This record gives sequence, structure tokens and C-alpha cells, in this order.
Amino acid sequence: MTEKDREVAKRVVRVSAASGSYDVHVGAGVIGEVGAIARAAAGGGRCCVVTETNVGPLYADAVEASLAAAGYDVAGRLVFAAGEEHKTLATLGALLEGLAERELTRDDVVVALGGGVTGDMGGLAAALYLRGVRVVQVPTSLLAMVDSSVGGKTAVDLAAGKNLVGAFWQPAAVVADVRCLRTVPRDLLVDSVGEVVKHAVLADPALLDDLTRDPLVSDGLDEGRLVDVVARNVEIKRDVVDADEREAGLRQTLNLGHTVGHAIEAASGFALGHGSCVAAGLCIVARASAAEGWCSDETAARIVAAVSAQGLPTGTDLATDVLLGYMAHDKKRHADAVNVVVPERVGSARVRRVSLAELAELVDLGREGVGA
Ligand SMILES: NC(=O)c1ccc[n+]([C@@H]2O[C@H](COP(=O)([O-])OP(=O)(O)OC[C@H]3O[C@@H](n4cnc5c(N)ncnc54)[C@H](O)[C@@H]3O)[C@@H](O)[C@H]2O)c1
Ligand SMILES: [Zn+2]
Repeated sequence: MTEKDREVAKRVVRVSAASGSYDVHVGAGVIGEVGAIARAAAGGGRCCVVTETNVGPLYADAVEASLAAAGYDVAGRLVFAAGEEHKTLATLGALLEGLAERELTRDDVVVALGGGVTGDMGGLAAALYLRGVRVVQVPTSLLAMVDSSVGGKTAVDLAAGKNLVGAFWQPAAVVADVRCLRTVPRDLLVDSVGEVVKHAVLADPALLDDLTRDPLVSDGLDEGRLVDVVARNVEIKRDVVDADEREAGLRQTLNLGHTVGHAIEAASGFALGHGSCVAAGLCIVARASAAEGWCSDETAARIVAAVSAQGLPTGTDLATDVLLGYMAHDKKRHADAVNVVVPERVGSARVRRVSLAELAELVDLGREGVGA
């Protein structure tokens, strides 16, 4: 550790939800504090680290050492194969059997160490095992830090679609160590900035301008800036989720860029990352909103500039009817209309209900205009 490493201040963000409150500890090097944080937030005697084959070899030793130093009886490690394709009921079953074999009791603690897939898997296993044991989330990807670690959603995929089986289960604590981002593949890191831009558009004009001036991911990672940005993103998601814990109203605005983004993701056969698709969706809906007079041209231009500065796509070549085919199957669709989140200005968005025909028009409008 260099002198510079040590200078980065830690930030603690308190998240209060109706079903439980917890702290999100954001810092550089805080992985060594997982044991003490778990001890204070969750107590318990025995713990088990749930992780996957990429992240486990990098960080599980350090996390387990920290847990042991805090007095935990570390009951072995449960490692599943990394990747979204393993976010399944079969993996969940294996994890649950593993927790039972290790004789974890209701007072014990699951520590989920990894990206969003691990957060979902470990969180759902904790929600179900013995009808619920405490879980400490240790997100190691940018997406997991800024998005999935807040809100208490956990899920696995079915053959019929992503995230179709799950539960709301709040963690006892979250420990986000931005130093873990050093080992994340660069493309994936850049991809996840799509969600950061989305949060900035929803709630923080200053953050959006800061991202536009200076892309978040550059040659060296600025840990101090990452701590600030992750903590701010946690606050933004918290404020939305706080107001509305169970998916309705305000929480829907977190879907900004996602209606079109999900369609691009599916139509590209998941070749394009989720964050990149959200970024493109964000730009399309921003340009369409400017064309409709729902926001100013300047707002749309600022959004597109912020996306472009990160090196993320600002549009798509996929045909509108192809995208519409996927949007018509969106699980958030009700009757023949879909809810689309549109920016009103930087810092505010609203949900609009549009027919599929209107949606097609929006996608077409969103291909023209600023930065297209
Ligand atoms: N529960 C929620 O609220 C919520 C919200 C958003 C997304 N998600 C879920 O999150 C998942 C996507 O998250 P993700 O992008 O983190 O996926 P992921 O967990 O698959 O991680 C992406 C890749 O990065 C690797 N990785 C993670 N951290 C690393 C590190 N520090 N060093 C090296 N490699 C590392 C992983 O092994 C994997 O290969 C999806 O399954 C999505 O559904 C959940
Ligand atoms: Zn998303």
C-alpha cells in the first residue's frame, strides 16, 4: 500500500428501508474491515463466504482473514461458476445445500463476495435458507457497488427470462471496496458507467457535468473520486428506493434508459453489455423527449455528451421493428401500453405511459438530433 492509497477517506451511507436499515461502507482498502463491520452489524458466530470462480481467488482469502480476526468461525467457502449463465435455480440449490452442510444456524451470517450475480445469488440464498439469515454484501464490480447493492432485490434467472424468481432481502451491511475495481476487466468497468450516468441524469446535474469533463474510467483509477462517485450513486439509488421500497411510482424512474436498453441488449443477443445498452437507450429517449418537447434540446445534449465522454454508445443501428418486438415482451408492460421513463431536465425524470405505436415513434425520433 502506498502513501497515496491511505489518503482516501471512507464514506458511510445509511440506507433505511421499511424492512430494515443498513450502512454501505465505501472506501479504498475497506475489504479488510469486512469482519469488524459484519460483527457490528450482524453479530453471529459462524459465517460462510459465497463467491464465484473469478472473484474468489482474488479476494476471498482477505475477506475470510478479516472475518476470522473479528472472531467468526469461518465455515468454508462456497464457490460457484462465474457468469450470468450460472445465476440459476440449480446454483441456488447447491448453495443452499452447502449452507446446510456447513450447519449454519439462524444466528449465522452469509457473506456474498462478488459482482451483481453473486449479490443476487448470495442474497437470495440468505433470504431462503432457514427462512432468512443475515447477509453482508461485498460487491466487487462497479455495477454491484452503484446499483445492485442497494434496494434489497435478489433474484435468479429462469429459462423464460432474467430475474424471474427472487425476493426482497435487505443486507445487514454492504462493504464496497473501490480498490477491487483494479482487477475488473476495463471493458466491463466502462460498461457499468452507463448506470452511473443514468443516476446522474436522474438526480445530480453536477455529477453529470463532472463525468462529461472527465470520464470515470481512464488509464489509472482515481480511488478518491471513485469513493465519492460510488457513495453518491448509493445515495441517489437509496433516495429513490427509500421513498418507494416496492417497485412502483418513483422506483420506476430507475428504469430510465432501460425500456429501449433492454431491447437493444436482447436484440444484440447480449453481445453488448447492459450498461452500454442503457447508455444508448438513455440517449435515444433523451433525443425523443427533446423532439416531443418533454425536455429541452440542451438537456438532451448534456445527456448525450456525458454518455459519449465515457466512450459508451449513444445510439443503435438495430431496426425499430426488431427493437419493438422485444419491447412488446418487456415484463414491465401492462396491457398494450408500456411505461417509459423520460428526462424532464437533468436531475428529474417522469414516467409516461405510451402505446407500442407511440413507442416505435419515440425510437425513430431518438435516432435523430444531438450527437446522432
Ligand atoms: N439485485 C439488483 O438490484 C440488481 C441490480 C442490477 C443488476 N443486478 C444483476 O447484477 C448482474 C450484473 O452484475 P455484474 O456486472 O457485476 O455481473 P457479474 O457478477 O457477472 O460480474 C461481471 C464479471 O466481472 C467479474 N468480476 C466481478 N468483480 C470482479 C473483480 N473485482 N475483479 C475481477 N473480476 C471481477 C465476474 O467474475 C464476472 O465475470 C446481473 O445478473 C443483474 O441481473 C441486480
Ligand atoms: Zn440496469
